[in-house]
Amino acid sequence: MDGIGTILMEWYRQNARTLPWRETCDPYRIWVSEIILQQTRIAQGLDYYRRFMERFPDVSSLAAASEDEVLKLWQGLGYYNRARNLHAAAKTVVTAYGGIFPASYPEVRALKGVGDYTAAAICSIAYGQPYAVVDGNVYRVLARLWDCDLPIDSGAGKKHFAALAQGQLDRQQPGIYNQAIMDFGAMQCTPGQPDCSVCPLSGLCQGRAAGHVLQLPVKSGKSVSRTRYFHYLHLLCGDTTWLRRRAGKDIWQGLYEFPLVETDGPATWENLREDPRCTTLFTDCGETELLDTVSLPRHILSHQAIESCFYRIRIEYPSAEWTDYVAVESADIDSYAVSRLTESYLKRLKTEEVTYE
Ligand code: ADE
Repeated sequence: MDGIGTILMEWYRQNARTLPWRETCDPYRIWVSEIILQQTRIAQGLDYYRRFMERFPDVSSLAAASEDEVLKLWQGLGYYNRARNLHAAAKTVVTAYGGIFPASYPEVRALKGVGDYTAAAICSIAYGQPYAVVDGNVYRVLARLWDCDLPIDSGAGKKHFAALAQGQLDRQQPGIYNQAIMDFGAMQCTPGQPDCSVCPLSGLCQGRAAGHVLQLPVKSGKSVSRTRYFHYLHLLCGDTTWLRRRAGKDIWQGLYEFPLVETDGPATWENLREDPRCTTLFTDCGETELLDTVSLPRHILSHQAIESCFYRIRIEYPSAEWTDYVAVESADIDSYAVSRLTESYLKRLKTEEVTYE
């Protein structure tokens, strides 16, 4: 009987998805596609990939761009650190390697934002080097084939599956093998209702023999999730509003947002009005009037959830103290990169045809 790798690659020959980054060996394109695909489904990722390649066809054009522009193009994908790292790494490729993408695993792995997975994907797909990828699809396929219940989010599990993956790798065609096992996980060995009756690996699948397919892979589920409470103040004076670029180590670094008051728990407008951060903000802006309050559905991120409320407030005049805010005309607001949360608020304003004045 054929080995697992041979069966996977034969399955891939017949079922591979046609994707633009599969028509190239350009490490830059493969790198960008892999970073985009870490956070999105292929259908949505395709659009971002095409727009990204149109605007930044090579590593030098990406390196030369402003961070604001890169974040704007990334808007909606989430995980903005990945865009910032991509941009920083592009600059490294230009300054340290003269704009030629490095070709050894240690050099690729050392680029900002490139972890084991991405380095293995780039080196195997672009250069044919023997590094096995391990992503969510690969964990699932391997855990089921070996009926292995080691948690994939534990140190021992990660080590075990990395070794298993490396042991299965086809060393003649590592790029094809890696993409075959990922596509196989995404299309055949799916999380929900895999149709094992048509699976070419079912005869070798120990998880199927044990009746464990739907329980695998196992996660320890220890990753924590906390809830945060964001209150955004959408201030209006004529046609002008105010945004601030997020700094610091927190989420959404580099993105723009309305003045924010974060509280430890749920809070009402009355609570907020008395909060010193609000009273300071409103010093020197004359009369203020609350026009509208919009609560958005809980916004889920990878390790936290945001409960948010946007308060539309008319002010008489802007305070001279708002030196770290930019005054933005309402027609220009879409040119700023914002989080998906703020984007949904702005979209809602548009659909409800709320005017800024
Ligand atoms: N998921 C992320 N990158 C992939 C690739 N190159 N092939 C299939 N699935 C993927």
